[in-house]
Amino acid sequence: MNSEQFKTTYSTDHIKNGKVTYQSPSNIALVKYWGKKEHQIPENPSISFTLNHCKTITTMVYEKRKTIDENFSFDIYLDEEKKDDFKPKIETFFKRIETYVPFLKEFHFTIHTKNTFPHSSGIASSASGLSALASCLMHIEAQVLNLKVDERLEKTSFLARLGSGSACRSLEGELVVWGQTEAIPNSTDLFGVKFPFKAHENFKNYQDTILLVDKGEKQVSSTVGHNLMFGHDFAEARFKQAHKNLAEITNILQNGDLKSFVELVESEALTLHAMMMTSRPYFILMKPNTLEIINKIWAFRQKTATNVCFTLDAGANVHVLYPESEKAIVLEFIKNELVAYCQNGHYICDQIGIGASIV
Ligand code: DP6
Repeated sequence: MNSEQFKTTYSTDHIKNGKVTYQSPSNIALVKYWGKKEHQIPENPSISFTLNHCKTITTMVYEKRKTIDENFSFDIYLDEEKKDDFKPKIETFFKRIETYVPFLKEFHFTIHTKNTFPHSSGIASSASGLSALASCLMHIEAQVLNLKVDERLEKTSFLARLGSGSACRSLEGELVVWGQTEAIPNSTDLFGVKFPFKAHENFKNYQDTILLVDKGEKQVSSTVGHNLMFGHDFAEARFKQAHKNLAEITNILQNGDLKSFVELVESEALTLHAMMMTSRPYFILMKPNTLEIINKIWAFRQKTATNVCFTLDAGANVHVLYPESEKAIVLEFIKNELVAYCQNGHYICDQIGIGASIV
């Protein structure tokens, strides 16, 4: 399998003007993607929970251009407000996917996007945003190219990946693996694949409460972040560890061993931050309140013998993960003991979801 399979040639003459809306979820990685090669190829495999409520909803209006030139033609709005500062990211995305989407320069796109989570929440919208965009484009392509359901999904994920790596895990399935690894048959660096085994009942409706510790802009952009792994002293060991952890979590997700799940997921989160703390330049992306929350979670877990745990992305916010059966007691704990550490007391309750859909 290689990228060439996604190169298609078809006549774009028959593509009609239109409008399409997709909603795509955010996802939270359990084994983290951190480090990439050229062309958005991950250095290691990752797996994530798809979220249910944190979504980007994107409407794309597409109209044939009267005159076509070297440039892409599009406007982007967030919450009905024109966002020219989003343009470079989309321009880069379009450049990367141009060879796979032959009609890109022939249309003017008006893109209206909104998130179900607050924009300035510190929750990255690139995964949900780029997967929604890729879905809209593939919907347009479907006018002239009749791909099988699976093929279309693969190509959508392939395109989304070229926009933002983690976006390829935001299309279909509750658990999505991205990156070639032995434990997962048919896993590939090119796109996300559904976790191919049956997940244990313990993970049904798994809960994720996102504690918004720092709602500011990311201190380290993902591009800068991934680049920190170039020449990092621990890089090779980390990439190897991710394969090992992916194999381990593949078993855990099937046998329902929550104790092992907690240990692995927290270790992954701390490893991600350890990589940032030990790179050159180095960063501490946790805030004092991140640590307060982690310590509170540990104390609560010990006291109650529950399976609540945390994970982090490349920032200070904390994702609190727990089984549905512990929802009442953990939510009570969050309200009583953790909300005080959130900026303006803000948090978002979410749970595992199934993926993107047309609206
Ligand atoms: C820490 O997908 O945002 O959230 O490919 O540069 O867009 P780009 O990076 P991005 O990186 C996400 C990193 C992470 C871990 C993860 O989601 O696996």
